[in-house]
Amino acid sequence: MIRFDGLGKTYGALVAVRDLTLEVRPGEVYALLGPNGAGKTTALRCLATLLSPTSGFASVGGADVVDEPLQVRARIAFLAASMGLYERLTARELIQYFGRLQGLEGSGLEERVDEMVALFEIGDFSARLCGRLSTGQRQRVSLARALVHDPPALILDEPTLGLDVLSGRTIYDFIERERSRGKAILFSTHQMEEVELLADRVGVLAEGRLVAEGTVPELIALTGAPSLTRAFLDLVVPVGAGAAP
Ligand SMILES: Nc1ncnc2c1ncn2[C@@H]1O[C@H](COP(=O)(O)OP(=O)(O)O)[C@@H](O)[C@H]1O
Ligand SMILES: [Mg+2]
Repeated sequence: MIRFDGLGKTYGALVAVRDLTLEVRPGEVYALLGPNGAGKTTALRCLATLLSPTSGFASVGGADVVDEPLQVRARIAFLAASMGLYERLTARELIQYFGRLQGLEGSGLEERVDEMVALFEIGDFSARLCGRLSTGQRQRVSLARALVHDPPALILDEPTLGLDVLSGRTIYDFIERERSRGKAILFSTHQMEEVELLADRVGVLAEGRLVAEGTVPELIALTGAPSLTRAFLDLVVPVGAGAAP
């Protein structure tokens, strides 16, 4: 469903992502695990058609991000902590607006907005302006807005960043529900607990390069480390220290 095929992205002389190849299947949760600056956001933004790759390919459901960006956008929900909400719309108006952008209208639109409001427990503040919402409330509205068209692929850039444990729990429950509905889910994180809790497979990204991939037990076996945290450090630190080729 989600594919990267030798994707590279540079910013001037800086290589942010190099030769990234990975695949996320329907019903699979894939964690892109890497330290700050590893290239996670850059890779996900290329997939979401917000950045152009410098080399290689990425596609969603067979639609190429460069050649068929509109098809890609119809097939994905992209969630990023840095995304703003329109402060002067109410929570409900914002979800409606994004539903319209995705081609929903009339009673179909209203039903879908009601579903999103119920699913993410937005009811209590649906008439409040987005500018007046708490971080956790904003995150729920962002999720509703990103998912209003019920796309088959979900791309979540550090989805629990800045959230308290309870709001984080909402996101975990949501990811598990969407997985059981057959969605392909790719999320980035630097938190081991999140990976252990959610991911079917993990790709470890360091300095723009995928240095290892597998299930959590496979990564632990690969490094001979006693835990995912140690495995992660073993995989990532040598690269940062310049010891690896
Ligand atoms: N717009 C940009 N212009 C120049 N360099 C950037 C830009 N965005 C990110 N970078 C650099 O690219 C690298 C990867 O960044 P990023 O994709 O944000 O990593 P991550 O999300 O894993 O923290 C970092 O070295 C970062 O400083
Ligand atoms: Mg990032």
